[in-house]
Amino acid sequence: MAKDSARGATARELLDALRHYRDGAGVTNAQLVKHGDGLLNDSTVGRYLPVRRDAVSPGTWPDWTRFVEPVLLACLKVQKISEQSLEHRRVMDEWIEFYTRLGGVRPQSVAPGQPRLVTMPRPDLRHRIVGRDSALRALRKLLRLGEPNATNVPPVTLRGLGGIGKTTLAMVLSDERAVTDTLPDGVLWVSLGPKPPIHALLDQWARRLEVDLLGEEDNGARSEQLRKNVRDRHYLIVVDDVWEPAHARYFDIGGPWSRTLYTTREINVLSPPSHAYPVDVLEPGAALDLLTDLAPEAVEQDRTAAEDLCRRMEYLPLGIKLAGLDLAMAVVPGRIRRLVQGLIEESERRLALPQEEGRLGLGDGPVPLGAILGMSVDRLSDEDRERFADLGVFGGEPRTWTIRMVAEFWECSEEEAEDTVSNLARRGLVERQADDRYWMHALLADYADALAGQMP
Ligand SMILES: Nc1ncnc2c1ncn2[C@@H]1O[C@H](COP(=O)(O)OP(=O)(O)OP(=O)(O)O)[C@@H](O)[C@H]1O
Ligand SMILES: [Mg+2]
Repeated sequence: MAKDSARGATARELLDALRHYRDGAGVTNAQLVKHGDGLLNDSTVGRYLPVRRDAVSPGTWPDWTRFVEPVLLACLKVQKISEQSLEHRRVMDEWIEFYTRLGGVRPQSVAPGQPRLVTMPRPDLRHRIVGRDSALRALRKLLRLGEPNATNVPPVTLRGLGGIGKTTLAMVLSDERAVTDTLPDGVLWVSLGPKPPIHALLDQWARRLEVDLLGEEDNGARSEQLRKNVRDRHYLIVVDDVWEPAHARYFDIGGPWSRTLYTTREINVLSPPSHAYPVDVLEPGAALDLLTDLAPEAVEQDRTAAEDLCRRMEYLPLGIKLAGLDLAMAVVPGRIRRLVQGLIEESERRLALPQEEGRLGLGDGPVPLGAILGMSVDRLSDEDRERFADLGVFGGEPRTWTIRMVAEFWECSEEEAEDTVSNLARRGLVERQADDRYWMHALLADYADALAGQMP
């Protein structure tokens, strides 16, 4: 404990504030001693926080662990503020800030950057994230980050076609300071895929949350047990890569204080329409930045060709990333040039670009871009798949069409065409535009074309 006069003045400032806090909380010194977990006695409390306001506090610096923290905890206990609550965390955080600002040593147990209570394994972010500032702003607002006292915030769904960057956006968001500040218990993350092992995934969460599910086999009851456990906590719950709403419901365990974020390719009922956020392709500049980060030589060599390539990929982050990684492996300038031209001119080359780390639902080995996009096509009925394949003919710019146009092409009634188009839209394969025209992403048109070539 320091004894110099400046230190004495700040000690008095700290003790005045602490006394003020004690009085505001309506707590007496006797209660502090009673609830101080044996760390506080009459003489320490009486010396530092005398009952009479004009009594002089000693010019010694109060130790955080032996005095300030036990006083705060005792006050919170007397007020029945739960240890799990955000209010508890907020009070402690504010005092830690104040204590360190006055010159105290930041307590070890709350050093900045300490891991939050629960984080689940998530895909790695291996390169710079480009664009997305406005998406992040919108998501912070929808999830009401920065509003710790908001309750029952509706879940938010990130929706968009394969490879558009939904998972990436969810990861970037979950690492933001706004999440840590608003949801101090941490992030619960699960990536489902088309056929999730629900039982094992619930087990993983239970282990992290230290909940014993051993006696329970039924997944609904297991989920309910987790829900009870996190009811008063403040988590960001991310249920990534949802293909069936029924799967997602097992992981919808947040209480009123938590916030939930889903990602999915499909239109479904995971959140109210006002809380569905459509993820768009990258801005051209951001797409070129991503390509430059991954394959600087290719962009340096021929910027116009690089821009063409981004346009051919229609600014889909997954396409740009796989092209960038592929180009980065070629070191000979002539070969880089040929590779770029090949990717611009030949749709088979684009669709064959490999994702080395695999894809949930497709296995761990390298999987081609086409197969990743095609996961959504595989979910169509045979007839709808055939009709989807036909849409490749609309592959030229501007790649939009009306129901009447496709009905003629499919040789069916407009009602039937509406049904099919609606199924395609539900799977995230086509999108309705403002003027009742429908749009399909360039890489999906490539995929449709390739599929048509394989059909009898
Ligand atoms: N904003 C971005 N900046 C840089 N790279 C990005 C960005 N968004 C996505 N990517 C890259 O593109 C790849 C595909 O993105 P992501 O996995 O997030 O797509 P998705 O929409 O979740 O696809 P799926 O529907 O298949 O789950 C990622 O591996 C990531 O590396
Ligand atoms: Mg994803």
